Amino acid sequence: MAFSLSSFLSNDIGIDLGTANTLVWVKGKGIDVNEPSIVALEKQSRKPLAIGAKAKEMMGRENPDHIEVIRPLRDGVIADFDATEEMLRFFIKKVQKNKLLVRPRIVICVPSGVTPVEMRAVRESAERAGAREVYLIREPMAAAIGIGLPVEEAVGSMVIDIGGGTTEIAVIALSSIVTSRSIKTAGDDLTDSIVQFLKRKHNLLVGLRSAEEIKCAIGSASVQEEELQHTCRGLELVQSIPKTIIVDSTEIAEALRESVSAIIDAVRQTLEQTPPELAADILDRGIILTGGGALLRGLDRRLVEETSLPVIVADDPLTCVVRGTGKVLEDISAYQKVLE
Ligand SMILES: Nc1ncnc2c1ncn2[C@@H]1O[C@H](COP(=O)(O)OP(=O)(O)OP(=O)(O)O)[C@@H](O)[C@H]1O
Ligand SMILES: [Mg+2]
Repeated sequence: MAFSLSSFLSNDIGIDLGTANTLVWVKGKGIDVNEPSIVALEKQSRKPLAIGAKAKEMMGRENPDHIEVIRPLRDGVIADFDATEEMLRFFIKKVQKNKLLVRPRIVICVPSGVTPVEMRAVRESAERAGAREVYLIREPMAAAIGIGLPVEEAVGSMVIDIGGGTTEIAVIALSSIVTSRSIKTAGDDLTDSIVQFLKRKHNLLVGLRSAEEIKCAIGSASVQEEELQHTCRGLELVQSIPKTIIVDSTEIAEALRESVSAIIDAVRQTLEQTPPELAADILDRGIILTGGGALLRGLDRRLVEETSLPVIVADDPLTCVVRGTGKVLEDISAYQKVLE
């Protein structure tokens, strides 16, 4: 590995500021932080008590009079600017340790739904948190680079990134996003559908963490997947007592059906708006799925059935975006065109 004085004195870093998870890439090292985007605040003072994994442990267990556990980003936009800044500062500090002799350059990936005002807010937050230079990149572009797609070439690639807050569908060629669509149906929505379903069908109230666990363990995009079961604990609504039930994957697939259809419809609409030459490229090369939602069982198969196109789930879909920021860090000038 090449040795340089500036890399000894500072760590250039890449950040995937996601609505569900924040990941930090340190140049020359790799992924150094991978934690939920959650902040626990002291209610009165709004001072952060815990950030990341520690804050997630508190979620649903906090006394709401004293502690508020929030997700500063929601639906792909920044819901709480101050908490977002605290979170960024915390993670940047964590990877910088004692390397603050030279302030780092930071590449940050933002959800593509953020407005110019929010972009400026993220940039300023990162600067206040100690960045020397800040570069912003849109999520599907970073994902495509992370996967190793030839984004700068005259060939079209389609990436579908299903995160917590948004599903972003983008056709990329010649270093830009040619056609794209961003919808708010993504992982959070799937989780919420399970909460609603259990309430309606089983009179059982479950927390978001339990519902997410069910989704990841037995959720699927169609009822044709192998049948699985999962134990589920919650509060029985009629008698208000804790209760355990067994749910099966067929009913959970039913609970997820509407949200999965919304994602598929958005993919279809994006394909309809794709210029023919690029559509031909996608027919050859397939659609690539990234983000945590790409792990939903049977989603790839469902998309093949619905679009008649090849569909590939990226390796390690939860880290594609941050790996993309890492590649950009290696040669920022070469990637100038993809930065915002
Ligand atoms: N095995 C799995 N099956 C289904 N969903 C999963 C699985 N593993 C993780 N997820 C979901 O993936 C989502 C998180 O994905 P990811 O980290 O890519 O989101 P994010 O980048 O933080 O969000 P966004 O891109 O919308 O800002 C969560 O909703 C999580 O429940
Ligand atoms: Mg994401």
